Amino acid sequence: MTGLLDKWRSRSSGIALVTGANKGIGLEVVRQLAAKQWRVFLSGRSLDSIERAAVSLSAPSVTPVILDVTDQESIDKAAKIVSETVDHLDVLVNNAGILDDHDDSILDLSVDRLRRMFETNTIGPLLVTQAFVPLLRKSAAARIINISSGVGRLTDMGPAVPAYGISKTALNGVTGKFAASLKSAVIAVNAVDPGWVRTEMGGSEAPRSVEEGADTIVWLATQAPQSMTGLFLRDRKPIPW
Ligand SMILES: NC(=O)c1ccc[n+]([C@@H]2O[C@H](COP(=O)([O-])OP(=O)(O)OC[C@H]3O[C@@H](n4cnc5c(N)ncnc54)[C@H](OP(=O)(O)O)[C@@H]3O)[C@@H](O)[C@H]2O)c1
Repeated sequence: MTGLLDKWRSRSSGIALVTGANKGIGLEVVRQLAAKQWRVFLSGRSLDSIERAAVSLSAPSVTPVILDVTDQESIDKAAKIVSETVDHLDVLVNNAGILDDHDDSILDLSVDRLRRMFETNTIGPLLVTQAFVPLLRKSAAARIINISSGVGRLTDMGPAVPAYGISKTALNGVTGKFAASLKSAVIAVNAVDPGWVRTEMGGSEAPRSVEEGADTIVWLATQAPQSMTGLFLRDRKPIPW
């Protein structure tokens, strides 16, 4: 085990796949990893947007791949393409997410909206992780990073964005289950709250830049101890679920 972990520590670069990476925090994570000489699969649901995003980075180590996290066929196709291109995957970042319940209250929340939010924010990361675990197992010490949110914390439940919040609470549950199930395979699984970030989702009033939002994610991908697993992190530190 120690040998494997030492191998990870000595690795200056690796191979990663980021979902929902055509803009926002996901694109910034790809940019930072590529700057560290990582090979990165920049995935998203539209060919046009992932190709434009990849061109905007002008990094030869970035490869666009179509992946809609709500579509099993699309997930399987992406996993096949990636596994035919590389012999292992070191890091999977489940970043894709939606939020469209700004004005909702749990008192009259539409269950259709809750289902839609779960499809992308909770079930999507679960299915993507299942599809990529075989390739992650081939890494000496792999990491799965789920982008969650502070509004999903059971210890700090406010009334805002109920469907989104509940979908992230459930994503935290997905994180814990994978962490426990993959510990013996030396695959670390953690959730990250990036804070309130200026993106299309976060809006222009948010206090954090995408660089700040991506920091803990990139740190977990490249520098954190491999023994760090089953945690919810913000600003590189564990926070209560
Ligand atoms: N911004 C914040 O303040 C904040 C705070 C806490 C947590 N987060 C989380 O951070 C992550 C990134 O958010 P962001 O702020 O960067 O949002 P964003 O700019 O709106 O980006 C969201 C990304 O997810 C993609 N996406 C949505 N549905 C998808 C699907 N079915 N398949 C694949 N990709 C899909 C979007 O693709 P399209 O362009 O095709 O729509 C886009 O690339 C999300 O999980 C979000 O919940 C954000």
